[in-house]
Amino acid sequence: MKSDNTIIELKGLTKRYGYGDTESFALKDFDLTIKRGEFIMIMGPSGCGKTTLLNMIGMLDRPTSGEYILNGENVAGISSARQARLRAKKIGIIFQDFNLIQDLPVIENVALPLVYVNRPRTVRLKSASEALSRFHLSEREYYYPHQLSGGQQQRVAIARAIVSEPEIILADEPTGNLDSRSSNIVMEELKNIHEEGNTIIMVTHNPALTVYATRVINMLDGQIDTDIKTVSDQNLPQPINVKIKKNKKSKEKK
Ligand SMILES: Nc1ncnc2c1ncn2[C@@H]1O[C@H](COP(=O)(O)OP(=O)(O)O)[C@@H](O)[C@H]1O
Ligand SMILES: [Mg+2]
Repeated sequence: MKSDNTIIELKGLTKRYGYGDTESFALKDFDLTIKRGEFIMIMGPSGCGKTTLLNMIGMLDRPTSGEYILNGENVAGISSARQARLRAKKIGIIFQDFNLIQDLPVIENVALPLVYVNRPRTVRLKSASEALSRFHLSEREYYYPHQLSGGQQQRVAIARAIVSEPEIILADEPTGNLDSRSSNIVMEELKNIHEEGNTIIMVTHNPALTVYATRVINMLDGQIDTDIKTVSDQNLPQPINVKIKKNKKSKEKK
């Protein structure tokens, strides 16, 4: 394992769709090293591969070829069950359209990720309640998603993304469906989460939001076009409770 603060390394990551005449590359020989505490914004025209990239990092989809090294372990080829376990522990995901389950109350939505890390129900509800209070949604615990505004729903989705204390947050245009006021609130919450030492990778179309980023990557045709760091690696926020986990691969159950 690297002794520096690398959390994610993508090496030659490629996602191909179709064959022969219909062959196209959503990601092409994509290399990227991400340090703990980066807040990366991914920009670029529609169809350039931004969502594909987040899906790869979130292990929601598999690359055609290439390596994905997460905390020193190549996870590109491990079983879907192990990917799901790793995802539940390490990665929180926020979508443009919130992706809340409509027939579950807010608190149950937020508690859901804790099912996958085997927390008992009382603990799940307590943690969900705490996460919601952080986002000023305590009075809304037993509302259903459709009873909330878009901004509130996205804050619920953020609570759900962080409830299991993952160190990586992926967000695909999280403010894309929000008015500017709600958008600002959501960005301030993401900023706070980042300042606690978490790593955030966010897709956006809005150049104004790049003020929150420590690094801005512009993509084009499945590749990196420009990559600019606005904060040096030494100055990235570090986890408040530094849990330097010894990532012994052998400890992960097969
Ligand atoms: N399931 C799929 N089958 C075929 N092509 C796909 C599929 N998913 C994405 N693509 C193609 O991959 C490219 C990148 O898509 P995507 O990652 O969604 O781009 P972005 O998020 O930047 O708009 C696009 O050309 C898209 O049409
Ligand atoms: Mg997209």
